[in-house]
Amino acid sequence: MITLTDIAYVRSGVSDLDGAVDFATKIVGLTPVPTDEPGVAHFRADERSRCLTFVQGPSGVIATGLRVGGHDELADAETQLEKRGISVTRGDAAGAASRGVGAFIGFNDPWGNRVELVSGQHVTAELLAPGRNAGITEYGHSCLDAPDVVEAGRFWTTVFSAKVSDWVGEMACLLRVDPMHHKLAIFHGEGPALCHINFQVASYDDLFRNWHFLVDNDVEIIQGPGRHPTSGSAFVYFRGPENLTYEYAVGTRMITDDNAWVPRVFDPALPSSIDMWRGPITPTTRQRQL
Ligand SMILES: [Fe+2]
Repeated sequence: MITLTDIAYVRSGVSDLDGAVDFATKIVGLTPVPTDEPGVAHFRADERSRCLTFVQGPSGVIATGLRVGGHDELADAETQLEKRGISVTRGDAAGAASRGVGAFIGFNDPWGNRVELVSGQHVTAELLAPGRNAGITEYGHSCLDAPDVVEAGRFWTTVFSAKVSDWVGEMACLLRVDPMHHKLAIFHGEGPALCHINFQVASYDDLFRNWHFLVDNDVEIIQGPGRHPTSGSAFVYFRGPENLTYEYAVGTRMITDDNAWVPRVFDPALPSSIDMWRGPITPTTRQRQL
C-alpha cells in the first residue's frame, strides 16, 4: 500500500493563459508565483510553493499531484504500481523544477485520470500576496471523475492509503489522507476529468463576501451558497475559464480518530445529500483530462 501524506497541486492546460491568470488572480484571489518558464503560470494558496499551475496549450487538466513521504517512499510507490501492472513514468529534473518538487512519477488511474506522486514538495516562507483578499487559507481538495465510483473508492483505499470518510451513494466517494474530511474525492463522470478544485477560506464572512463579489463580477455560480451534510462545509462553486470549476468552502469537518469514524452513505436521490440547505443542484463543469 502506498501512503499518501497530502495533496500537492493541480496542473492545468489553458488555451488562453492571460485569461486564466487574470481570473485566478483578480477573481479567485490566489497568489501568483514569479517564474521565468515561458507559457507557464503558478499560484499559491498556502505554504506550498504552488498548488495550481496553468500551462499554455490545449485546454484540460494535465495532472493532479499527490504527496508521498519522501524519495524512498516515492521509489517504493513506483515499484508497487509497476507490480500491479500500472505503467509509471519517472519525471525529469526540469519537470520536477516546474512542479516545485524534489522528484515525481506519473501514472494513469484505472479510469484515465493522470496522477503525479511527488516527494519533497517545496514550501515557502514568502508572504502570500493574493491578487484579491478572498480569505483563502489553503488548497483544500481536488475531485476527479470516474465512471465507477465504488471501484475508484476501492482503488484509492487499497492501492493507496486513503480512507473513505463518506459516500453519496454511488455518486461520490469522499476520501481523506489526513484529518480533513476529504482532500480527494471521486465523483461519477463518464470520462476522466477534474471535477473541481477547492480552496478553504477563513470564515463564513469570507464565504458570503466572496459570493457577493462573484455575483457582482458576473461570475457564473454553479452551486451555493450551500452546505454539504457530509463534510459539514459551507460552499460556493463557481465557473472559471477553460471549464475549471473552483470552490470556496469553510467549516470542513476534521476526523481525528480513524477508528471511531464509520463512513456514512447519503442517498444520492435526495438533493439534501449534496446541499442540506436545499439550494439548486447544478452539475459542475468538468475540465476534461488531456
Ligand atoms: Fe468540493
